[in-house]
Amino acid sequence: MHIKLDGEGPAYRQLYRALRGRITSGELKPGTKLPPTRELSADLGFSRTTVLQAYDQLTAEGYITGRTGSGSYVEALRDARAKRDGSKAGERRAEPRLSAFGEALARRRSRPFFGSYVGERPVLRYDFRYGRPSIVDFPVRAWQRCLGRRARAATVRAHDYSHPNGSAALRAALVDYLGRARGVLTDAAHIAVVTGSQQALDLAARIFLERGDVAVVEEPGYEGARRAFEAAGAELVFAPVDEHGLDTDALAALARRAKLAHVTPSHQYPLGGVMPYPRRRVLLDWAESADAYVIEDDYDGEYRFEGRPLDALKALDDADRVLYLGTFSKVMFPALRIGYIVLPETLVEPFARAKVLTDGGGPQLEQDALADFIASGEFERHIRRSRSRYAERRVALLAALDSYFGDRVEVLGAEAGLHVAIRLKGKLDVPMRELVASAAERQVGLYPADGYYARPPRQPTFVLGYTSLAPTELREGVKRLAKLLEGHVASH
Ligand SMILES: Cc1ncc(COP(=O)(O)O)c(C=O)c1O
Repeated sequence: MHIKLDGEGPAYRQLYRALRGRITSGELKPGTKLPPTRELSADLGFSRTTVLQAYDQLTAEGYITGRTGSGSYVEALRDARAKRDGSKAGERRAEPRLSAFGEALARRRSRPFFGSYVGERPVLRYDFRYGRPSIVDFPVRAWQRCLGRRARAATVRAHDYSHPNGSAALRAALVDYLGRARGVLTDAAHIAVVTGSQQALDLAARIFLERGDVAVVEEPGYEGARRAFEAAGAELVFAPVDEHGLDTDALAALARRAKLAHVTPSHQYPLGGVMPYPRRRVLLDWAESADAYVIEDDYDGEYRFEGRPLDALKALDDADRVLYLGTFSKVMFPALRIGYIVLPETLVEPFARAKVLTDGGGPQLEQDALADFIASGEFERHIRRSRSRYAERRVALLAALDSYFGDRVEVLGAEAGLHVAIRLKGKLDVPMRELVASAAERQVGLYPADGYYARPPRQPTFVLGYTSLAPTELREGVKRLAKLLEGHVASH
């Protein structure tokens, strides 16, 4: 028997692959007798053990059977398997039979999940990228000390399975911090630490929603929530927003059957409105009367520049209808992937069980180190410093917008958060994609808000992040942007 080996890896694996290929291609028909091991080893110049190992592997996987005293014979393969292994790779790929959840995820979308108009994220000098803090200003040494201390002091217990809802130390630190900083009075039992707030959105979607259920989202609103709800099969109801965030008057009529609503009252995402107290009351009353729950996504609530941060909606939640969602992505750094959710009493147990199913609980070392970072005061010191740094950058951005655009733009959502939105008066005379590409050629990272709308906005709208640019860079970036847009915006 002539056998062609591929020369890769151990000899017995090469022989095993060669024989398996000839069996699955049908070259060696069922019932064919393989050469005796002694004969084949002599032919190939391998040891007999090598040939025996290959035959053993083929026997274990059911390609051949050994008959005592008579040798090894090729087995009949089940048709599907023979066909699959014998055909070309492209022909082999069948459509997987997915769950409704899988189908919703596999469906083609207008925009890819990850990525943006500036696809490969070129390094641009004046990049108005938003949704992240100034990472270079993070006190990395203090953080490393916390991590190092915890790593060195870790006991046997610290290496064992721990509570799915997260480190006891971090939850205790969060109880203090949330009371102090966000007016949220809770205890450790109601907090679950999650792998970024995205995990909490996914768990909430799966716990509350199935095909045909209604969920309210803001329009425009956060993609991470929309996609999690859609993947669970929900029908989305788009509630309008204005300069004060979600228009709660529209809720009652729009969302009669809704089970869940995702809202960003501290700084509407992406347009930036801060929801005033009367609307917060209406929202909570709506939730109670509609028997619905509200996810309060407080993604950058720590940052408010005119007056002190408003307490969270959760602070008013007498009827226990709010799932309060926080993240360390904007106050520490996004790669940390630590967020938390404060749960209504009735949801603590289902969430803990869902968390066990999804990941059995997150990594503990970073959570414990974060607890120390908070308890030592380093965390709030960092927030205070960041707040004044961002306040200065925000002022520089607003001044530049004023001097280079004047009344040709409307600036939205500047009183809080880490980005502003601008809406141009007029219409673009080039496709958005081209405009973004032209901006990139001028070293300006420009981000349209289109992706946050179910229906694209009538006026060109952009989100400008300012955390990572110095005042002079902000000024130059806005100057270049104004020059670019001047040539492409036609007034009505
Ligand atoms: C509205 C909103 N929620 C949450 C997050 C943070 O998500 P994560 O905690 O998963 O990083 C972001 C980040 O951009 C956001 O914009």
